[in-house]
Amino acid sequence: MSILKMEDVCYRYEKTGNNVLEHIDYEFDSGKIYAIVGKSGAGKTTLLSLLSSLAAPTAGKIFLDGQDIAKIDKYRFRSSYIGVVFQSFNLLPHLTAEENVLLSMNISKKHYGKKREHAREMLRKVGLNEDEMQRRVLKLSGGQQQRVAIARAMSYDPQILLADEPTGNLDGETQDEILGIFRQLAEEGKCVILVTHSPDVAREADVVYELSRIAPPPTGKKKKASA
Ligand SMILES: Nc1ncnc2c1ncn2[C@@H]1O[C@H](COP(=O)(O)OP(=O)(O)OP(=O)(O)O)[C@@H](O)[C@H]1O
Ligand SMILES: [Mg+2]
Repeated sequence: MSILKMEDVCYRYEKTGNNVLEHIDYEFDSGKIYAIVGKSGAGKTTLLSLLSSLAAPTAGKIFLDGQDIAKIDKYRFRSSYIGVVFQSFNLLPHLTAEENVLLSMNISKKHYGKKREHAREMLRKVGLNEDEMQRRVLKLSGGQQQRVAIARAMSYDPQILLADEPTGNLDGETQDEILGIFRQLAEEGKCVILVTHSPDVAREADVVYELSRIAPPPTGKKKKASA
C-alpha cells in the first residue's frame, strides 16, 4: 500500500475562485524520491500544502497508510508524520542551527533519550560541522541554511519528507550534496517528495509527476472548429 495517496484531488482558492488542481491521482511509496514538476503557477506549492495538511482538498481525498488524513489531527500529522522544508526555510534566524532542530523536536511529542545529541547527529548527517551548529542561522550561508532546514524536518523521524524547491538557489556541487542527502533518506526507507524546476533534480528522482496549469474556464474549454 502507498504511504501517501491522492485520490481525485481538486483544489480551488475560494477567495479568487481560482481552480488550481483538478483530479489529481498521485501515489507515493516509501523508499523512493518523487519529483513534482510543472510551470510556475501550475500548483506545485499548493499540492505540497495539501499533502502537509496546511490546506484541505476542495474535493477528493488524501490517505496516509490508507487512513484519510482529514481524520488525523492536523497538528499531530505535521509534527510527527511529515517533515516539510519550505522554500524560504522558515528557520528562526536568531537561534543557532542546533536550537532550531531542538525546537522542532520539542514541538513534536516524540521522546528521545539525549535530545541534544540527537539534534547534533542530524546536523552532522547533513554536513554541518561543530562550529556551524552553534552559529546563529542568520550567519550561515544559503546552502548551510538549507541543510539545517532538512535536519530540522527530519529531526522527529517522519516517514515522509516534503521539500519545495530544495535546491533553488544552490550551486551545482551543493545541489549534488543535498540530492545525496535525499537519496540516503530514501535508502533508509523514507518517502521523499521534491518540488523542482531543475531537470537535474528531476533526473535524480525515481518517479516524476508533471502538473499542468489548468486552462481558464469556461469558454476556453471547447476547441475551435476552424483550422
Ligand atoms: N493564497 C492564494 N489565493 C489565491 N490564489 C493563489 C494563492 N496561492 C497561490 N495562488 C494561485 O494558485 C496558482 C498555483 O500557485 P502555486 O503557488 O501552487 O504554483 P507553483 O506551481 O508552486 O508555482 P511556482 O513554480 O512559481 O512556485 C497560481 O495561479 C497562484 O497565483
Ligand atoms: Mg511554488
